[in-house]
Order: sequence, then C-alpha cells, then structure tokens
Amino acid sequence: MVAVAILAAGRGTRMKSDLPKVLHQLGGRSLVEWVLNSVQGLQPIRRLVIVGYRRELVIEALNQKADGSLLPPLEFVEQPEQLGTGHAAQQLLPYLDGFDGDLLVLNGDVPLLRPETLQSLLRTHQENQNAATLLAAHLPNPKGYGRVFCNGQNILQQIVEDRDCTPAQKQNRRINAGVYCFRWVELARILPKLTAENDQQEYYLTEAVNYMEPVMVVDVEDYQEILGINDRKQLAEAYSILQDRIKENWMKQGVTLVDPNSITIDDTVQLAADVVIEPQTHLRGHTRIEAGSRIGPGSLIENSQISQNVTVLYSVVTGSTIAENSRIGPYSHLRGHVEVGSACRIGNFVELKNTKLGDRTNVAHLSYLGDTTAGNQVNIGAGTITANYDGVKKHQTKIGDRTKTGSNSVLVAPLTIGEDVTIAAGSTVTEDVPNDALVIARPHQVVKPGWRLKS
Ligand code: UD1
Ligand code: CA
Repeated sequence: MVAVAILAAGRGTRMKSDLPKVLHQLGGRSLVEWVLNSVQGLQPIRRLVIVGYRRELVIEALNQKADGSLLPPLEFVEQPEQLGTGHAAQQLLPYLDGFDGDLLVLNGDVPLLRPETLQSLLRTHQENQNAATLLAAHLPNPKGYGRVFCNGQNILQQIVEDRDCTPAQKQNRRINAGVYCFRWVELARILPKLTAENDQQEYYLTEAVNYMEPVMVVDVEDYQEILGINDRKQLAEAYSILQDRIKENWMKQGVTLVDPNSITIDDTVQLAADVVIEPQTHLRGHTRIEAGSRIGPGSLIENSQISQNVTVLYSVVTGSTIAENSRIGPYSHLRGHVEVGSACRIGNFVELKNTKLGDRTNVAHLSYLGDTTAGNQVNIGAGTITANYDGVKKHQTKIGDRTKTGSNSVLVAPLTIGEDVTIAAGSTVTEDVPNDALVIARPHQVVKPGWRLKS
C-alpha cells in the first residue's frame, strides 16, 4: 500500500520567475505534471501535493488536468511558509494520521523520472523492509545537490547538502535525487524532531533520512532521469534530454524525422507510422498526425488533427482539423477552429479562422476567410476577403457548393451565397445570392475616348 506526496510549495528562487517553479513547462506539461505522471503506474491509494507559493495557480493547473482515470483524487496540503523540504513533509502529519503503508515522496522539480525506476525503488524498499529507500546517482557535475554517503552495502550513512559539505565531502559525486520511499510510521515519528541547524536554517527532509535506519540507496543507471530543475539552464538541459527521448521513440515507431535536431515535438503529440517531419518543424499540444502526411519544412502545428496524406509546408496550424489528401501552404495560417475537408488546397498567404470547408475546395492565394462555411468544390479566387467584423460583432458567411468567387471579391457578412454562383472579379457583395447566379457588384468601367488631362 503506497501513498504519494509531491513537494511543490517552493517558489524556485533560482528560476527568477513569478510563476511557481513547478508550473514551468517542459515539452507540453508542467514540471509537477511530469512528476504526477511518473507515479501513475504505482497505483497509489492517496495522492498528496504540498502547495504554498502561489498555491492557487498550482491547484488550478493540476485540477484542469484531472485525468478522469481511476486514480484517487489529488489532495492539496498547504505549507503556509516555505521553511524547507522537511517542513513541507511535516505538513503531511495530520493528513496521514493512522496511515500504515509506505509513502513515496518526490520533489516536484524532478520531471524526467521513468515510471520503471520508481517501481524498482518501491520493490527494493518493500523486499528489504527498509525504514527508507532513496534514489541516488553518480553525476559528472554534482554541484548543488545533496551528497550521499554509504557503507559498502548501499546502506546510507548520511546525506549532506552541498552548502553544508566540507571541501572533501564535495568530491563525492553520488547525489540525492530527492525521491524517497518511507515507511510512513517511521517518518512520522521523526518529522517533529527536525532542527534547522544548517547553513540555510531550513528544515531538511534529508535530516529525517539521516535519523532513520536502515536506509537503502538505489542508484539509477541513467543519471539524466533524476536531474532536478532549479534554474533556466537546467530547464533547457532537461528539455533537450526529453526531446531526444521523444524523437527516438517516434523514429522507432516508423516516423521519419528529417534533421531531428531542428525539430521539436511535445510529449502530448501522437504520430502514425510513415509520417514525415521535415526540418524546422514544431509539433505542440494535443496534435495527432496520420500516416503518409508530410509536415514542414518550417511549420508549427498546435492542438490539431491532421488526417492521412496531408502536406503542410511553411505554415502555422492551430486548433484545427485537416482531412485526408489536402495540401496546406506554403505560408498559410489556420488560426483556430478551422475544418478543412479532403483534397482541399489552401495556398500562399491565406488566413483562415473559425471556418469550415467542404471537400475539394480551394483557397489558393492571398485570402482571409473568417466565420465562414463553404461547401464542396468551391473555388475562392485570389484575394477574396470576408468582411466578417462590423466593428462590434462577428458575422457568418455561407458559400454553397461549386461556387466561384472572382479575384479580389469582398464578401460582406452576414451573407449567404447559393450553389453554382459565379462572382465577378472585384465585386463587393453585400446581399444574399440565390443558386445558379452571376453576381457583378462593381461600377461599370467608363472609358472616354480622346480624353486628356488639361495642362
Ligand atoms: C533537494 C535536496 C537535495 C537533493 C535535491 C535533488 C533537501 C534539503 N535537499 O535540494 O539533497 O540533492 O533536492 O534535486 O531536501 N519545497 C517545498 N517546500 C519548501 C522547500 C521546497 O515544497 O519549503 C519543494 C520545492 O518546490 C521543490 C522541492 O521541494 O519542488 C525541492 O526543493 P529545492 O529547494 O529545489 O531543493 P534542492 O535545494 O534542490
Ligand atoms: Ca531542486
């Protein structure tokens, strides 16, 4: 029986940010969400998050992501003042009164942990019936981390924080990951006894660990997993490690990444086999791309669903869906709530917003369509613009199947244009048009023969 507690109350002074450190984003999720995800597989019976600095933001962010799964609901535990990781753990005492199982405690700033690593930590802890078991790693550069000192059998002697280390102790590269498994009754007995006798005058969770017995240390093989994020540089390092992991996974699943170093992919993105991602392309949020599609070069796709055999070239697509065999770009901007049917062509310098297009419809050059519904096989001529905003409200434009708008048409909404309509170039259309009609809405051309400017 295991409960989980995540320490997420600190400000993260070294981030130099108003935003609580644990809410900084890493590849589509906040740091604390990463930590929460990493414990899912342990089937914890309780999930506690210790919050303090700007706690309303942390609570709101985590409640929004409520996973709707069978996991127990998050319990938020307030640490009113941030007096250290031990003080944070002390806040759990009233919540876990009478709890008789193990407690996994994780720092909220360790986002790259693999679920398997936590499983093996828990296994070691339970098989050996330790009072506590903690994760450690040998770091090439251990600066800033607590150092772990053991006897030969991986039994902990003590943890000493970096700033409390003697120069000789600093030579030790074995560090405390900030991930611990405790027999709760043992920890609960010791927590009230913590002192703040250290360089920072804070209550350290590591001091509690020092008092317990036996405490076993489990080293992770891949030290990258336990990197703690304290500043922007470490955030960037973690991002690049995460990107390597994500991209390696997609390549294994049959996705071609042309020049992986110039591509970024959020962890929340889904790709089918035989997708090709060209250079300088960025895939964000809840994006899904189906087989045979080719995205990029130079594209940004965010929270969008892209069907099979679509191409997107030098374009930005946000909050939109694109059906199979359509071609987008170069230089198109789908700004949100856009639905493109199958085999459509959206071309150069076209902006679409809140617009739905049927199948085999083309908007090939220099257009803006907003709040528009167009049917099948519509051809939007070069430079066609919907005037959808009257300065106060947005209005809808409807365009029927097989209608063609001439170059440089202005469609003043609200407007309904029927099927099989042809609109002459340069028209400003302000009134509804029935099916099967030709619309010419511009002044006649006037030519005066023999006319010259008087000098
Ligand atoms: C901590 C460990 C250190 C370890 C390192 C691993 C202690 C004393 N030191 O140091 O041994 O090597 O993590 O990354 O534990 N927090 C609270 N309330 C507080 C203070 C912190 O909730 O009062 C939270 C923070 O939000 C953060 C986590 O605890 O998520 C760790 O705090 P941080 O200040 O980053 O600890 P480190 O100095 O990195
Ligand atoms: Ca830290």
